[in-house]
Amino acid sequence: MTAEPIPAPSTSHEPIVLQLSRRPAPYPPQRQQELRAQARTIIDRYPQSRSALLPLLHLVQSVDGYVTGTGIGFCAEQLGLTDAEVTAVATFYSMYRRTPTGDYHVGVCTNTLCAVMGGDEILAELARHLELAPGETTPDGAITLEHLECNAACDYAPVVMVNWEFFDNQTPDSARALADDLRSGREVTGTRSGAPVCTFRQTARVLAGFPDTRDGANAGEPGTPTLAGLRAARDTESRTTEEPRHDTGKGDRQ
Ligand code: FES
Repeated sequence: MTAEPIPAPSTSHEPIVLQLSRRPAPYPPQRQQELRAQARTIIDRYPQSRSALLPLLHLVQSVDGYVTGTGIGFCAEQLGLTDAEVTAVATFYSMYRRTPTGDYHVGVCTNTLCAVMGGDEILAELARHLELAPGETTPDGAITLEHLECNAACDYAPVVMVNWEFFDNQTPDSARALADDLRSGREVTGTRSGAPVCTFRQTARVLAGFPDTRDGANAGEPGTPTLAGLRAARDTESRTTEEPRHDTGKGDRQ
């Protein structure tokens, strides 16, 4: 099957985090106070405060839905860094969004194995069905569609991720049904999770290091394909240790 061409991304988004020439407005005082207390909890986990930058970026993303100039200024202030230093990190990692993000960030892996197994078709079908280019958000603010690089889930290719929860072995039809469920507010649960998917902002808060309080959130189990490599390694190890050693006549080397 040949993938339909994917529409070119819209250029309507304003670049947000690179506006370094003017200082963005800080959070309102009440929000600032709450965030400072939460940031302190995170920073205290690290021997050096700047090590807390990645979770702090998730924290501001949990408030704003993406990394805003205000969020960058907040992180810089808490950690004694410059806005430019924080921006350099925020723009390096693709988990930090630079534009407003929907409640559900739907990422389609189009790296080699997923692409070969149908990832390109899935992305094309979602783009067509949602009338979006990758990187864009539906007008109702429900879904942001994006293509992803390899998620280390190649044994379940092609995979789709919703707010970083895996949906394994997808097809264009199953991905379209998933998008429809998300948009209509129906509860959906990832293939390897024991709890329904939460919103992008709630996920960002968990990634910032706060507890995931959903029932069953940590109840997922690794699947058979994932454990196959482990089993093979153990089998090889036990065969190796059972085989008699051959005397080479050179003696043992320490
Ligand atoms: S190529 Fe898609 S998860 Fe690895």
